[in-house]
This record gives sequence, structure tokens and C-alpha cells, in this order.
Amino acid sequence: SPSDPDLVERARAAKEKLGDKVFVLGHHYQRDEVIQFADVTGDSFKLARDAAARPEAEYIVFCGVHFMAESADILTSDDQKVVLPDLAAGCSMADMATAEQVAECWDVLTEAGIAEQVVPVSYMNSSADIKAFTGKHGGTICTSSNAKRALDWAFEQGEKVLFLPDQHLGRNTAVRDMGMSLDDCVVYNPHKPNGGLTADELRAAKMILWRGHCSVHGRFSLDSVNDVRERIPGVNVLVHPECKHEVVAAADYVGSTEYIIKTLEAAPAGSKWAIGTELNLVRRLANRFAPEGKEIVFLDKTVCFCSTMNRIDLPHLVWALESLAEGNLVNRIEVDKETEAFAKLALERMLALP
Ligand code: 13P
Ligand code: SF4
Repeated sequence: SPSDPDLVERARAAKEKLGDKVFVLGHHYQRDEVIQFADVTGDSFKLARDAAARPEAEYIVFCGVHFMAESADILTSDDQKVVLPDLAAGCSMADMATAEQVAECWDVLTEAGIAEQVVPVSYMNSSADIKAFTGKHGGTICTSSNAKRALDWAFEQGEKVLFLPDQHLGRNTAVRDMGMSLDDCVVYNPHKPNGGLTADELRAAKMILWRGHCSVHGRFSLDSVNDVRERIPGVNVLVHPECKHEVVAAADYVGSTEYIIKTLEAAPAGSKWAIGTELNLVRRLANRFAPEGKEIVFLDKTVCFCSTMNRIDLPHLVWALESLAEGNLVNRIEVDKETEAFAKLALERMLALP
């Protein structure tokens, strides 16, 4: 839908008033009305790197979700302020692993006698507390664009990986990219005593997957893939690795949002694509590439947005920018010092991956 012209003008004016003091980051899942004001767009990895590369900006306005804003705060200097235009923009996957649950899991691994062999690898989509746990226990963060490199690194440090909190990214990377079998993976359920696993099962596993998932990508099924192949002969199926294993196994291409965009940029005219990721991005890509004769459809018949990404809308962005332009610091995301120190260790290990 077209943006309200009055709000567009107010956002433009507030940004102009702030000048170099503000840097606006936009994740690929953001609405069109918001993305038009982003100084840079990217996947989670690119945005983390870009936030760290702007030391002159006093304000980093993060159009994305809470864990991304936390990561930006951790990677920027203390006098830079990270602002999330709507504090309710969380991530249901990140909420599936709490610090208490993960500490309890570590006790279970310790009791099974395997904690020393386990290296935690945490997906970017996790709270700062979980990142700090990861740093404290010698692990690294990963995103969907470097998960294989993170796992390669982790298996040089230890024999087993505890992968938090997205079981699908963990399983897909282990099986699809690293040649492990499904039997090498077990799922730790934080809502069951001992994670629902016996000590023997834990000792036999190479990948201990946290029982978390993305509700948006969880909507795609093997049926969605089979249906679209029947409907559109010759279609290429391209999905995000947060999708279930059977969806990823049936797809032609798998990768992060940035990878999805690059793949479509390089695709020949006349090619057909079904994309399994969030709808704002898929719609934007369908419109962008239609004039080049690339047919792009959403993988599922029913639409799905990420409802928390969508919370950042133009009214919230205008409010944040105008407040900053008037000297009112609103919606600051600030990670406490101790958490920050350990979380930074884990994030820096990721940034140093080969
Ligand atoms: P990427 O942009 O890193 O592919 O991540 C997708 C996502 O779900 C972010 O929340
Ligand atoms: Fe979280 Fe899924 Fe939304 Fe990404 S798409 S922010 S993983 S709920």
C-alpha cells in the first residue's frame, strides 16, 4: 500500500535535520514504507557489520527486531545510541530460549559428563543473555549466511555442538552442508526434564539442537513445494534455512535473505522462482524483477508476514526520528556491561570466522 505522503515528508524532514548524526539500518523483512528510509539494507550478518562500521553516527535507528538492535548496541561504542522504533518488535524464536533454561541445559550436559566436549553455537536470533552464555562457554554466534563456517570452527574446538535456538538452521546446516546424518542430531526440549533426553542419547549425539523454530518459516511444508512445482512447471524453489528439513531437502536453493536477493539478481530473464521466506521481501522482489521477465511467487498459498518485523511501521519510524531530531532519546536498546562483554566475545568470534 502507498505510504501516507504527510508521514513520508515528516520522516524525510526529520532525517535531514539529523544529518550524519543518524544512521538507519533496515532488515530485508521490513515494510516498503520503512525500507525507503534505510541508509543500508541487509541480512542479519550484514547489518551487524554495518552497524559496527559507523562510529560517527550518534544514533543508530534499527528497523528490525529486538535481538538485532541488541547486537548493534554490543558492537557499537558506548556513546552511540541504538534505537528500536517499536519496543514490541521482538522475535518469537529468540524468546524460545531463556537464560534460565539454557543454564539448566548446561547442568544437564554437565551431569551427563559431556559439557567439556560441547561448544555452544547460537544463532543471531537470540537474546543478549544467550549470546553472553555462548561467549562465556567458548562458543560463537552465527547467522544464516555463515552457519557452516561457524560449525566448522566449533568442531575444531570440541566434539559436540549445542545449537541455539533454531533447531532447523542447526539441522539443515549439519545435514545439508556438513554431511552429518539426521541420527547425529538430537532435540533438547527445555520444557521436559533433562530436555527429554537420556544421558546415553546426549553422549551419542554430535549436534544437540535446541527446540526452537521460526513461526513464519515453519508455515512452509513439503506440500507447498510439491504444489508449486505442479502449478508452475520449471519453477526454481529457493528457501531460507529456517524452514523445516523436509522443505530444505526438497528445495533447489537454500540461503539467507541476502543470498536470496543475490540469486534472483543473477537469475536469467524468463526464469521462474518460488520463494520460501517472509512476504514483505518476496513481494518487493517480485515487483522489482517483474520488468526483467523473472516470475517470482510466494512459496505458500496463504500469505505470511513476520508480525513483529511489521510492527516497525512508518508512524513509529517518524515518531522515533522526530523525537531524536528534537533531542529526545526514545526507545534506546542498551545491554548491560557484563552481558555485553561476554556477548561481544561471541559476536567477535563470528566476525573473525574465515
Ligand atoms: P537473515 O536476514 O540473516 O537471513 O535472517 C532472517 C531472519 O529471520 C531474521 O530474523
Ligand atoms: Fe523471528 Fe522468524 Fe520473524 Fe525472523 S522471521 S524475526 S526468526 S519470527
